Amino acid sequence: MAVAELVAKCLQAQEMAYCPYSGFPVGAAILTTGGAIITGCNVENASYGLTVCAERTAIQRAVAEGYRRFTAIAVTCDIKDSFVGPCGACRQVLMEFGTEWDVYLTKPDGTYKKTSLRELLPLAFTPAHLQKN
Ligand code: THU
Repeated sequence: MAVAELVAKCLQAQEMAYCPYSGFPVGAAILTTGGAIITGCNVENASYGLTVCAERTAIQRAVAEGYRRFTAIAVTCDIKDSFVGPCGACRQVLMEFGTEWDVYLTKPDGTYKKTSLRELLPLAFTPAHLQKN
């Protein structure tokens, strides 16, 4: 089943996180419309502000590999007692590539809560707003 695989992949991706400063590893896995899965982890930097979140690592990797249409993303971190959503910056970056994403907020034990990008980023500014009439 696609969701189970997506969730498993985000947990695997988290193991690759480079987070020596925060000690807060995050994993993400993106499902393309064609069924491919592209993963990402957070990559921190000694110049803290240059840190890239797992979700943005994943989508930049996906776009660089030629994918632009996506259906879902699973994200995970080490927090066990609540479902944690992507940061605001990542929500906006995901929205660039479609408004209809399913988002699976995944706990370390693999349980997840399904939500959507629309729900996480209501009244979003999107590429459609830049189109001339
Ligand atoms: N982080 C993510 O990778 N994704 C998010 O949505 C929130 C935060 C990372 C950035 C940083 O490396 C660490 O988590 C602590 O903020």
